[in-house]
Amino acid sequence: MAKPKLIAGNWKMNGSKADIDTWAAHIFAGEAGATAKKLLPGVSDSENKAEILLCPPAILLDHTGKALKTTGVKWGGQDCHAEASGAHTGDISTGMLKEMGCTYAIVGHSERRQNHGETSENVANKARAVHAAGLVAIICVGETDDERTSGKAEDIVTGQLKNSIPDTATPENTVVAYEPVWAIGTGKVASAEDIAQMHGIIRDSVTKQVGDGVRLLYGGSVKVANAPEILHTPNVDGVLVGGASLKAEEFQAIALAAQKGAKAV
Ligand code: 13P
Repeated sequence: MAKPKLIAGNWKMNGSKADIDTWAAHIFAGEAGATAKKLLPGVSDSENKAEILLCPPAILLDHTGKALKTTGVKWGGQDCHAEASGAHTGDISTGMLKEMGCTYAIVGHSERRQNHGETSENVANKARAVHAAGLVAIICVGETDDERTSGKAEDIVTGQLKNSIPDTATPENTVVAYEPVWAIGTGKVASAEDIAQMHGIIRDSVTKQVGDGVRLLYGGSVKVANAPEILHTPNVDGVLVGGASLKAEEFQAIALAAQKGAKAV
């Protein structure tokens, strides 16, 4: 059965409890008893044309869960540790994410790879832990500007896929996000042709590794203005939105664009 498109917001290290409340109130128009179904039609109905996910900072997950429960909007972590527990000061386990009601966890975001020296092997171990906890891993890959201009983008991305996706991956517990590093937070969006080309390559690689039906997201300066075109690009099954997800109106408009589109894989 075809899966719904996935529209995921990554708040990174932004936001507060009050921001979560403002975001949720906008999504529900502040109406008592209103649900996400009203303003994000399709979120929780049987048509289920798009799945909506919010990944706030871990410290806001409890509050987010309270604000979003019963709405059909899901919430998830931005990272996790590969081990279930232990002496890892400042880290968060997948069991802790699960206890907060998360159903997804992002792993291998380029900001983790760059700022925390995470390798694809680390990412695979984290993804394995996500799977072991019964959550869905959103595994991020993407080349830098230098790698693209020197013609290495395809090799970098296929290498990251090969080494970041663990053998526990299935089409149900794994989503892959292609986020070219040069497009993140820069306002530079990959062209529809570039996205189609790279997503075609990713599809072939992921199908060989995991099988059919893994959703592939695009991320990098996604906004209302470019989301409809991106969401209609072949092999794009959703988007991972950074800056624009902080604004409820903007995120909602992107989600609505997805609901007007075709189903994912
Ligand atoms: P921006 O949408 O701010 O470019 O961020 C993309 C991203 O990194 C999402 O994970």
